[in-house]
Amino acid sequence: MKPYYITTAIDYTNAPPHIGHAYEKVLADVMARFQRLTGREVFFLTGVDQHGQKVQKSAEKVGLTPQAFVDGITEHFTSLWDKLNVRYDGWAATTDPRHKRVVQAMLQKLHDCGQLYKKGHTGFYSVRQEQFLTDKERGPDGSFGSEWGEVVELEEENWYFKLSDHVEWLKGYIQSHPDFIFPAHRAHDVLNALEGKDLDLCISRPIERLTWGIPLPFDEKFVNFVWFDALTNYISFAGYLAEECGNEGLPDFSKLWPSEAHVIGKDILVPAHAVYWPIMLHALGFSDDQMPRLIVHGWWNMKGAKISKSLGNVIDPNVLADTFTADGLRYYVMRDIATGYDSDFSDERLVMSYNKELAGGLGNLLNRSINMAQKYRSGVLAAGGYDDAENAALRQTVAEALPVYLEKMESWAIHEGIAAAWKIVAHANAFVDSTKPFSLAKDPAQAARLDSVLYHLAEAWVHLSVLLNPIMPDAMATARAQIGWDMPPGFVLSDLKWGMLSNGHQLGSPAPLFPRLEIAAPAA
Ligand code: ME8
Ligand code: MG
Repeated sequence: MKPYYITTAIDYTNAPPHIGHAYEKVLADVMARFQRLTGREVFFLTGVDQHGQKVQKSAEKVGLTPQAFVDGITEHFTSLWDKLNVRYDGWAATTDPRHKRVVQAMLQKLHDCGQLYKKGHTGFYSVRQEQFLTDKERGPDGSFGSEWGEVVELEEENWYFKLSDHVEWLKGYIQSHPDFIFPAHRAHDVLNALEGKDLDLCISRPIERLTWGIPLPFDEKFVNFVWFDALTNYISFAGYLAEECGNEGLPDFSKLWPSEAHVIGKDILVPAHAVYWPIMLHALGFSDDQMPRLIVHGWWNMKGAKISKSLGNVIDPNVLADTFTADGLRYYVMRDIATGYDSDFSDERLVMSYNKELAGGLGNLLNRSINMAQKYRSGVLAAGGYDDAENAALRQTVAEALPVYLEKMESWAIHEGIAAAWKIVAHANAFVDSTKPFSLAKDPAQAARLDSVLYHLAEAWVHLSVLLNPIMPDAMATARAQIGWDMPPGFVLSDLKWGMLSNGHQLGSPAPLFPRLEIAAPAA
């Protein structure tokens, strides 16, 4: 079977990461870990988008070369992924010489088959902002605002890509492939954007305006438009044209492509990922069944407002992970959003999700289960000596959670996958309250029943530690160490059945999995 090839957007290196970046990478990491748990081989690619005007300007402002500047910002991303346990197999940095060679080879191919042409353009240009302005930038009185500084009329030649030639193909492709974009309703936005315009795309910038980019191989006076460069990462780092470009250390493209999941935010669907990207691939000769699938997630907002640097509401995921642990943050950003929709970031919810759900619900269940087994049985489990309807009901909850979890996770409803596992947490906690092991322990006639209760709790936890592993890998490994059980090598979800722990199993020592935090709100 083909490996599951999953990618994320590559992050701009003009500023350090915020919570939106962290969410997207955790989402992809959770899916990668889940797919591995089902037994699939996975290749997870993420990285950084390092070229372009914004970076060139930011670097100038602080007196650094663009390369030194992006190296510094890139470090913020890699250290955050390390901290959050985002474990990727490939790192797509667009200044990587292997990537540059593929971008140039791709441009040359498009040039050779007549897909690119040069044309002059006259327009209004903001000297201060170093960009051409369109009617969108005009104020109500028709003039360009003072924020643009001096605006001059300028004629400039550039290279264009014949996007228009492929628009009819793209419309047909989208209509006949409802799986192309998830969630499906977003396809309407794409089809609307394809209506009635000349869509040819300017893919060059003259070097007088921009030097921080990949030179066009057939015209040295220009560098490549940053989106053309960035989108190519999905194939360049998967081994596309590796032989032709002399690239080493990359996967075998024919085995990996197409990607089953380009995980991106809704702001970069139209036009970049749903128009430019499939048309680029199509123009390069990729067939319809060689098109990738787009997974479009929603937006984390601050009390309904968009997160932005200027609003001063950028949340530093490093601070949040230091306060709530990596798993505490991973849990929150997976639990409080539905993939494809927006959510409000809330300090109160983050504290509550940690203290109530993780410390109080999940962690406490493990802690009391192991504590009681240690206290009454020195941590040794006895299986099969007694059974009753209460035990059977808990086993049934565990059994029923599995297929729901599987279906929800497969279909990107991570929050519902978590909810499926949480049915086990809720039932097991209620099971402790109703069976009252502390009373059973006082009555020697109830010894076999007590054994069965302790066994059921430990076994329920084995299941939880597997199901929640993709979401909270560190905490679940710690839990398994306390239980004294680990997933054997090659273990997959379908191996998970009631009775993983044998008669006489020795549990480890308990320690709080998520120690309660005495804080009202995070120091973010
Ligand atoms: O767009 N909530 O980079 P980027 C959720 N370099 N997701 C968010 C978000 C938020 N508040 N803010 C940003 C770029 N994102 C390009 C991509 S891909 C070939 C090139 C998401 O750093 C955003 O939607 O601005 C995107 O998927 C990712 O973070 C990187 O955004
Ligand atoms: Mg952006």
